[in-house]
Amino acid sequence: MYRTHTCGELRISNQGQSTTLAGWVQTVRKFGAITFIDLRDRYGITQLLFGEELNKTLEENPMGREFVLQVTGSVQERSNKNLNIPTGEIEIKVETFRVLNKSAVPPFTIQDDTDGGDDLRMKYRFLDLRRNAVKKNLELRYAVNRAARNYLHNQGFMDIETPFLIKSTPEGARDFVVPSRMNAGQFYALPQSPQTFKQLLMVSGYDRYYQIVKCFRDEDLRADRQPEFTQIDCEMAFVEQEDILNMFEGMVKAIFKDVKGIDYTETVSRMTWEDAMWQYGNDKPDIRFGMKVLNLKKPASVYVQKQPAEELINGAGFKVFDDAETVVAIAVPGCSEYSRKQTDELTEWVKRPQIGMKGLAFIKYNSDGSCKSSMDKFYTEDKLKAIAEAAGAQPGDLVLMLAGAEERTRKAISDLRMEMAERLGLRRKDEFKLLWVLDFPLFEYDEEGNRWVARHHPFTSPKPDQIDTMISNNPSIENAAEYLKHPYANIKANAYDMVLNGNEIGGGSIRIFQRELQEKMFAALGMDEAEQLHKFGFLLGAFEYGAPPHGGIAFGFDRLCAILGGSESIRDFIAFPKNNAGRDMMLDAPATIDDKQLVELSIKLDVKS
Ligand code: AMO
Repeated sequence: MYRTHTCGELRISNQGQSTTLAGWVQTVRKFGAITFIDLRDRYGITQLLFGEELNKTLEENPMGREFVLQVTGSVQERSNKNLNIPTGEIEIKVETFRVLNKSAVPPFTIQDDTDGGDDLRMKYRFLDLRRNAVKKNLELRYAVNRAARNYLHNQGFMDIETPFLIKSTPEGARDFVVPSRMNAGQFYALPQSPQTFKQLLMVSGYDRYYQIVKCFRDEDLRADRQPEFTQIDCEMAFVEQEDILNMFEGMVKAIFKDVKGIDYTETVSRMTWEDAMWQYGNDKPDIRFGMKVLNLKKPASVYVQKQPAEELINGAGFKVFDDAETVVAIAVPGCSEYSRKQTDELTEWVKRPQIGMKGLAFIKYNSDGSCKSSMDKFYTEDKLKAIAEAAGAQPGDLVLMLAGAEERTRKAISDLRMEMAERLGLRRKDEFKLLWVLDFPLFEYDEEGNRWVARHHPFTSPKPDQIDTMISNNPSIENAAEYLKHPYANIKANAYDMVLNGNEIGGGSIRIFQRELQEKMFAALGMDEAEQLHKFGFLLGAFEYGAPPHGGIAFGFDRLCAILGGSESIRDFIAFPKNNAGRDMMLDAPATIDDKQLVELSIKLDVKS
């Protein structure tokens, strides 16, 4: 037997017991004639004491970090206790030991605050995974996995696997493709999601499906994106949007409870996409804090239903505001005493290319009720106060204002809001706020192709009262600059996203389930009949054989884990992730393949360097 206990198991109550442990050498400390070794495994660390009689053998067999060691001895009370670890009251008085395997000197230290840089840790990911910090993340991931499965199983969902070698499923990214040896010149696509399969399963009558499944998307990578990532993918038949929202907020609440011990009893907030864009400049607002956006100009079109507070800025002769398409403001709590240096620094911040604003206007709403502003020349103090109060400011707050082209300015105010919240410590990692964003636009304008693309995916159903608008209008866009005036710009979908602390953790929709409507949708996206049949003939065909009404959602499993673990980066929660260039540093993949393989696959390369 290699071990009787783990390295995290023994306590003072085991004193006097004989034990055999096996694990990795964390540290070796020599004190004259005795040596202490910390032995580590997945469960913890136990201190080993090598007395005088063993020290000679130890000297003959010098032990290094990460050696695999087996010891037998007895549990004894430690003279120098470490109450920070569960085994800290005891140590093992070693009687015999055996080196099970040696280790080369590891390229970085295997401890919480490691000296290894990102690239090095990725190259030696198998060593990085030994570190407590990474192990904790994987444990959390497994806990989320179990909690989701338990919940879904108890709700009657069935886990059904779907294939990886398929034909393209459009989710808005490029496909990864796999050449087929047996079908020369033909390629499989790896699924961007199991979308069409789960819909087919609904047609087959498996009315509650789920799968914790890999998805593959060839897109630009960021901290919250990987080329292969995992979804908790779900679909239900005979449901309306409300059924789905209830079912899956239940799932997320169950995960909170099981994984974090959090009773999320409050109702999950809901917001329309329009409201999210209008009030936060963003379709995934972080609602842990306020600082809602005050809009001071009429929107170009998508937001036509909204009333801006134009009267507050009009007629003052301030050209920057008068000439701008959009003027927005936020009230930052408690910052009215910002110095010139601080406001200058913020101005530089919004001028950075990533934000792209020309400048920043501000109003200091002082604690004594007076107002001081960068626009004193144009606005009376009363006007400034009116703007500040309309932005929700109280005495003591700082109002920040941006002006410019609509899309960019909206994004900039959203970024600025997040930045200020970060600086003020309002984005607390131990606070979780869920939000449903509803009624997304059905279409998005693709500038490059001057055409409409599906905002979610082409299987998403329009709001029932807007189906007519979709069917009766010609999708073509005559004047690209005025696309927002096209009736399609305003069609909303039965689509929803779940947002957690400003991150999109899930998205889904009620689906189209009639062949005719699905054909119309494909046509609106510019697909002629031949293309529709070539790409989606199987789905259109299935819809002719009794497709039930259905809908679903998919959660970004990695993202959910990262947020619950208090991290921005999903990489930390994936055992073997890729870097931002899509490379696996450990395997050194992607890599070239043999000429023989190329020949077998009937592929000739034409690589431009
Ligand atoms: P969607 O494309 O919104 O929907 O994806 C669902 C969720 O998956 C996560 N996600 C990602 N996570 C890591 N890396 C990526 N590259 C990545 N891309 C997406 C996000 C997102 O909310 N088939 C539909 C779902 C449906 O309609 O049921 C779909 O895939 O958290």
